[in-house]
Parts: sequence; structure tokens; C-alpha cells
Amino acid sequence: METSVRLVVNGREHALNVRCDETLLETLQDRLGFSSVRETCGIGICGACTVLADGRPLSSCLLLSALADGLTVTTLEGLAGPAGELHPVQQAFLEQQAFQCSYCTPGMILSVVALLAENPSPSTDDAVAYLAGNLCRCGSYLRILAAVQDAAQRLRTSTVS
Ligand code: FES
Ligand code: FES
Repeated sequence: METSVRLVVNGREHALNVRCDETLLETLQDRLGFSSVRETCGIGICGACTVLADGRPLSSCLLLSALADGLTVTTLEGLAGPAGELHPVQQAFLEQQAFQCSYCTPGMILSVVALLAENPSPSTDDAVAYLAGNLCRCGSYLRILAAVQDAAQRLRTSTVS
């Protein structure tokens, strides 16, 4: 059985027919081709499937697409600027080498974008608490935390200038 939904993903509206048991993760990854949205646990523990839903981090494996009608979603593919320039958080992850296998990286970057939108100057403890739902099996946490501070600095600077 299918139902129709409308989603705005990375600024583009999509009218879709989705299965009633289809998760937002499946819709984004399989139907719309956003390969940055990754599945690992499938039960809301790892954060690899994180997207921004109306600006807040969401584990897309936990939401049925049938219940996501009208949602505005951002995936990693939606962060870059119009000329393909990296988002400051992406640039910070790159320069701090805040990844190894990079499987967790899209979800981690999106959570950091949301963190810095809520709190432009997070302490390390603030960042650890906010990112608790994003697991990195490679243990890149120290570099990720360095990237958070780097990105915060970049964003504060770009706001001032
Ligand atoms: S795949 Fe969604 S939280 Fe792990
Ligand atoms: S960089 Fe490998 S899981 Fe995080």
C-alpha cells in the first residue's frame, strides 16, 4: 500500500508515492539517491542516517515517510554553496582531518551544523553532549571536537565580516 507525500529536500520539492512501511532513510537514499544518508543500526542508535528536519537533527531511520509529509529536509548534499564551495563545517572537518573511514561523517557534520546554529560558541562538554547520538566507530572524536571549535570560529568570523 502506498501514500503520497511532499518533501522539500535541499531546497527542491518532491511529490512522491511511498510505501506505508517506508522510512525517510529509504526514501532519501533509495528513491531520491542521496547517498550521504547512511544506514547502520536502523534503530536510532548510531546517527549515521542523521538529516536535518526543519533544521533539527533527526535519525531518518526512525521516521516513516508517510508521516513526513511537508517536512523540509537537509542532507549533506544540500550544505555546499551555489558554486560548490564547502560549508564552513565541512571545511573544518577537512582541515582538522576529523574522519577516518568517513562513514559517520555526513551525519556528524549535519549535527554540528545544528549545534552551531543553536549555540555558536559551544564548550567541549556542550559539543560532547549534543553529538552523543552520533557514533564514530573509528574513534575520531578528538579531531571531531577540534573541528567543532574550528567551524565555530569560521562561522563567527563570517558573521562578523
Ligand atoms: S541507522 Fe539510523 S540511527 Fe543508526
Ligand atoms: S570516521 Fe569511521 S566511523 Fe567515524
